Amino acid sequence: MTMEATAGRSAISPRAAVILTLAVTGVVLLLMMLLGLAMRLAQAQVIDVQPDLFYVIMTMHGAGMVGVAGLSGAAVMWHFVRRHVPVSTPVFLTNLVFFLIGAVLILASGFIGGFGAGWTFLFPLPAHSGELWSANAAAAYLLGLMIIGVGFLLLHLDIARGILSVYGGLGAALGVKQAFGMAPDSSGPPPAVTASTMVLIVNILGILLGAAVLIVSLVNLYVPSFAFNALAAKNMIYFFGHVFINATIYMAVIAVYEILPIYTRRPWKTNWAFYLGWVLSTVMVLTVYTHHLLMDFAMPTWALVAGQLISWLSGLPVLFVTAFGTLTIVYHSRMKWSPDAALVFVGVAGWAIGVIPAIADGTIAVNSVMHNTQWVPGHFHTYLLLGMVAMVLGFMTYLTHPQPRYGFVWVGFWAYVIGGTVFVFAFLLAGSESVPRRYAVHVAQWLPYDRIGSVGAALAATGVLILVVRFFASARSSAMAEDPAS
Ligand code: HEM
Repeated sequence: MTMEATAGRSAISPRAAVILTLAVTGVVLLLMMLLGLAMRLAQAQVIDVQPDLFYVIMTMHGAGMVGVAGLSGAAVMWHFVRRHVPVSTPVFLTNLVFFLIGAVLILASGFIGGFGAGWTFLFPLPAHSGELWSANAAAAYLLGLMIIGVGFLLLHLDIARGILSVYGGLGAALGVKQAFGMAPDSSGPPPAVTASTMVLIVNILGILLGAAVLIVSLVNLYVPSFAFNALAAKNMIYFFGHVFINATIYMAVIAVYEILPIYTRRPWKTNWAFYLGWVLSTVMVLTVYTHHLLMDFAMPTWALVAGQLISWLSGLPVLFVTAFGTLTIVYHSRMKWSPDAALVFVGVAGWAIGVIPAIADGTIAVNSVMHNTQWVPGHFHTYLLLGMVAMVLGFMTYLTHPQPRYGFVWVGFWAYVIGGTVFVFAFLLAGSESVPRRYAVHVAQWLPYDRIGSVGAALAATGVLILVVRFFASARSSAMAEDPAS
């Protein structure tokens, strides 16, 4: 009997549910990439996009990409953690349905209602549109986010229930005793359980705070006298947003732990350092968001100094144990590289490389120069597009694995990696020249970066299109295949 059987049945198999979620991911990812390309081409003055539409596109692209990163990351996590704990397929599908309802509301708020306050909906901006959008349009956006958040909350609570039923406590599932040498390494939980536990702890807290500030913003739309401290709202929004997007990487990284051992024929080693890395990152990811507030003079200095120090350290424990583990598992393994293994390997590299400019920008002295330049989309697109998304594309390829047409897949792989690299470097170089981020209209001196970035973006999107088309070509048969976990 599978773990699944103990947690409730659904008409659709768990494997099919994951593949369905990945199919939605593929479509949304491509659409959002097209929106991103449209912004880049507009900045490059290749196409004409009016500024109000640019900000609608920017808001939709940001919200859509962060949402789909969460959805696909959750699919990776759920697929692997259900090998160890009982989880419910109906709850997993409920999250997908909530995501789709929320996405429709968000798209309507932007493309029908004109909402363009940025995916971060910074309070009280949704209520101050300068006549560009109505209170109802802003409400549709906030409600859409809230519905998506509720779906994720249900999914996380269900996985937490499953983990607690097997491990008895979150500390045991995280591997706290092993981290501090109080229990032998061999008695620790599998990597998928450790990572999922970390994600549950941070994301449940993040979503709850996010929901609170969404409600406050919603009330403020219709009752402007219902004021709220803007700095407190900013803290809550960035706590939620930073934790949520960070957690997408921590979910997707499970694909690295599970896929590389198949090809290297070596187990992913979990020792005290692995568990300690995850324990430390659990605590630090909750406090690191303050690097978004380094320019907020009203913040207490101690909080900003702490934010700077934790920004330098936060992601490093998990990144270090993962990058080190990846290199040691691959080194001298004589593995035959397949596209799924190559994609998750690139994912670790993209994550590690992207963290370097991020740490630089998390330093107050650097931030006072680089703040709100294209350095920022430069670093986060590196670890999201070439890190997190690479891991998800690797997982999609792994699940729909029938081997033929590999040549075709490799073309997609290289187009994505080379295009993505050109695209992020164009942002980073422009940022180092102080080109501002979030500007709809660029001056002549900035256009070379925008044009090179556009070429990279088009190539990367073509690569992803090829990978997604191949996924769809075998998705149906793979959905009906027997799941090795069952
Ligand atoms: C080929 C793929 C992509 C292209 C062409 C693209 C393009 C862009 C552009 C042009 C911007 C605005 C830059 C500026 O501030 O001047 C942007 C912002 C952003 N992108 Fe992407 N992007 C891509 C992939 C991704 C991915 C994979 C993610 C996340 C998983 C992502 C998340 C975001 C976010 C969160 C913003 C910030 C929006 C804001 O400032 O409110 N993008 N992107």
